[in-house]
Amino acid sequence: MEGEPVNVNEFQELARQALPKMYYDFFSGGAEDQHTLKENVEAFRRITFRPRILVDVSRINLSTTVLGYKISAPIMVAPSSMHKLAHPEGEIATARAAAASNTIMVLSSMSSCTIEEVASSCNAIRFFQLYVYKNRDVAAQLVQRAERNGYKAIVLTVDAPMLGRREADIKNKMIVPPLKNIEGLVSTEVDNDEGSILEGFAKGALDASLCWRDIGWLRSITNLPILIKGVLTREDAIKATEVGVAGIVVSNHGARQLDYTPATITVLEEVVHAVGGKVPVFLDGGVRRGTDVFKALALGAQAILIGRPVIYGLAAKVEYGVSR
Ligand code: FNR
Repeated sequence: MEGEPVNVNEFQELARQALPKMYYDFFSGGAEDQHTLKENVEAFRRITFRPRILVDVSRINLSTTVLGYKISAPIMVAPSSMHKLAHPEGEIATARAAAASNTIMVLSSMSSCTIEEVASSCNAIRFFQLYVYKNRDVAAQLVQRAERNGYKAIVLTVDAPMLGRREADIKNKMIVPPLKNIEGLVSTEVDNDEGSILEGFAKGALDASLCWRDIGWLRSITNLPILIKGVLTREDAIKATEVGVAGIVVSNHGARQLDYTPATITVLEEVVHAVGGKVPVFLDGGVRRGTDVFKALALGAQAILIGRPVIYGLAAKVEYGVSR
């Protein structure tokens, strides 16, 4: 590639060149046939605009608010695991880029920098993404540390009762040897000879029995607002508003969990309609262009989140790459 990368696809190519195959496959891949992985992106491309002319666009304002926090543009950092596999500076570099870009970073339960390290390294507005472990004390401790360290919301991920079948990781025997600090891994015995080490972790640690009544448990251990991440239907959107979440993230986990879920942009309107303005609706999955962001906003999202684009920026050009 000649010169500076000019779009996310070019950053992806730089990341591919920079990373060991095992890690690139882990970051870029999806579950099984990767049908939804392709669709998340393709479904955006099928939507075209109906542009109106002769409107004064000489002054534009991209800022918006999320749970009352003002951000410079409706683009947030989605939670993704183990940024140190993309670059040794890991989530700290990502958080600094989020701060410089005046937006919100959602730190993953599977972060390779600690909750405290990320909090003390920058003044980004941070939310904390939670996986709920069989051992509820582990989850409760994570939540309490996030709250103590100034994270402003809990993003409860509900589409990972067990790990999606990511066949590249199984083939590569994906391992994470140099990272001792991964928040959600430290308290678990990881052991899995057959598949990837992550699969072993998920089978051993994640609570596959998590269900709607557990939102009450989460509310009982924190005062932070709770966003629910992984909603794809009107039925679940209505339930989520009934249990009192502060917001909904339409997500299929970047197509890494259940393959053949719909592309997120195709179900956004359904969810927005069901929610009826009671809480804000966010979206992630396949957002690669400013025009994709605009499409999501036009279909009712308050803001979107990006997962892989952040990682590609980090792998290619560290903090500057994430900002770009
Ligand atoms: C993720 N995602 C994710 N989600 C979550 O709630 N907790 C996590 O730890 C992770 N980890 C993770 C790792 C990697 C490598 C990826 C690519 C994704 C899902 C993430 O939050 C988001 O839903 C998707 O990444 C959005 O899709 P795009 O932007 O990657 O297409």
